[in-house]
Amino acid sequence: MSAKVYAETKQACCIVTLENCTTCSDKNHCFVLREQLAFYNRLGISQIEDDIDADSLASIKYLWQDSTRAKKYDPSWNYAEDNTRAYTHPIHPYPAMMIPQVAGRLIDMYAKPKAVVLDPFCGSGSVLLEAFIRGYDSYGIDINPLSLLISRVKTTPINYKQLQNKLKSILETVSATKKISNPDFFNIDYWFKPQVASKLASLKAAIGLIRDKKIRNFLKVIFSFTVRSSSNTRNGEFKLYRIDDEKLLNFNPDVIDLFKARAEQNIEAMSELWEQFKGNETQVNILNEDARYRTSIKDALVDIVVTSPPYGDSKTTVAYGQFSRLSLQWLGFNGHLLDIDNRSLGGRLDSDNLPMGYSSLNLRYAIDLISRVDKKRARDVMAFYIDLNKCFIELNRVVKKGGFLCMVVGNRTVKGIQLPTDEIVADFGELAGFRHIETIIRKIPNKRMPSKNSPTNKAGELGATMTEEYIVTMEKTR
Ligand SMILES: C[S@@+](CC[C@H](N)C(=O)[O-])C[C@H]1O[C@@H](n2cnc3c(N)ncnc32)[C@H](O)[C@@H]1O
Repeated sequence: MSAKVYAETKQACCIVTLENCTTCSDKNHCFVLREQLAFYNRLGISQIEDDIDADSLASIKYLWQDSTRAKKYDPSWNYAEDNTRAYTHPIHPYPAMMIPQVAGRLIDMYAKPKAVVLDPFCGSGSVLLEAFIRGYDSYGIDINPLSLLISRVKTTPINYKQLQNKLKSILETVSATKKISNPDFFNIDYWFKPQVASKLASLKAAIGLIRDKKIRNFLKVIFSFTVRSSSNTRNGEFKLYRIDDEKLLNFNPDVIDLFKARAEQNIEAMSELWEQFKGNETQVNILNEDARYRTSIKDALVDIVVTSPPYGDSKTTVAYGQFSRLSLQWLGFNGHLLDIDNRSLGGRLDSDNLPMGYSSLNLRYAIDLISRVDKKRARDVMAFYIDLNKCFIELNRVVKKGGFLCMVVGNRTVKGIQLPTDEIVADFGELAGFRHIETIIRKIPNKRMPSKNSPTNKAGELGATMTEEYIVTMEKTR
């Protein structure tokens, strides 16, 4: 490949208007990346025209290998053969769950006695449960009410004998119920066959009669699982896709059987938690708040953050909102509480805070490359990272000086460009007052994640795909 001299992009493309822009007062608001020339020269790739050719893409794959940050692949973090279903971990599926071994090991590495643990994107509460069983108080934040329900139930020991009795009485109530009217939410008939909806309505009514809130919540989690598995949605998808018409003809789930089978599994899981942790006074604080803004957590309260933020593809791939929507509708949530994918990081471009995206050079390069192929996707990517950067400001406020931040991220690929999220979060962290300690790369054998690329199996190789993830650890210094 002959060396070329790279020319600066002739036309500025504004991230807000997606067009050549004449209105931005600050030049940084446009895609004019002054540092890009040296960067492309360093890559030794052909001049990047509007379209990126295949050879250039192959070179771009190794773009971020020359980071000076401590980074290594460590197979001892893979846990390919380990049991990830201890205690109440498996009570409800959730997209992109963190495996307990990773959460637990990070807590063990960095938490001192009486440490307070925070997961600002707590999802199904994996980190919170690992903190709980070690006796550390914790805080979990999420915008998804289903996530908060699962997290709460997962970390609350309940006497399993009471649960067995309540299950029996619920099943009796349902079989004696004549007819309950179905809830009235959009497209209920499209997602549920009439006999399925009718049984779900009876179950919901019977659960609503349970007075004890902890038991009622426990049953709601099982109900949510039953909603998912008896709906006309395809198995194994995060997004809502309906089963093909032909297959639907023969799809006749028995709602009560599904509920009963799941209840028995979850009661079994709870019995393990109850036997070991009944009477445990460790606090788990679960907050329905937004990690981008000031939360109700006090200044410098947290010793260690262990978290995996969304990957930035909530609208396209890992759609927490779509995953949760039918359950939430059945559980009676509506309005903005259902609008999770738009409220998630990157759901909307915050054009007032564009410099927060441009503050990472790694991100600027990636955005510039993507924008040459697809300007709209570049804008979506930018929207996500601006939001992610905001979270670091809040994390800096709540974490103690000398406290730790462990963030598990994936370097997903957009339009053939791999986003170096591990480097970008380290950039954001350093700007916010943290010091990068190390980045560990692990394979993700257990996690239900979309993987578009084949895995590489060579130890030490940094050309990561979404079959690998990065555990970025930082310490708060100021
Ligand atoms: C990768 S998942 C976390 C999974 C979790 N570690 C587990 O094991 O289940 C990311 C979570 O971030 C949440 N989220 C997205 N935007 C958020 C925001 N602005 N504030 C708080 N949580 C948010 C999503 O609802 C989702 O539950």
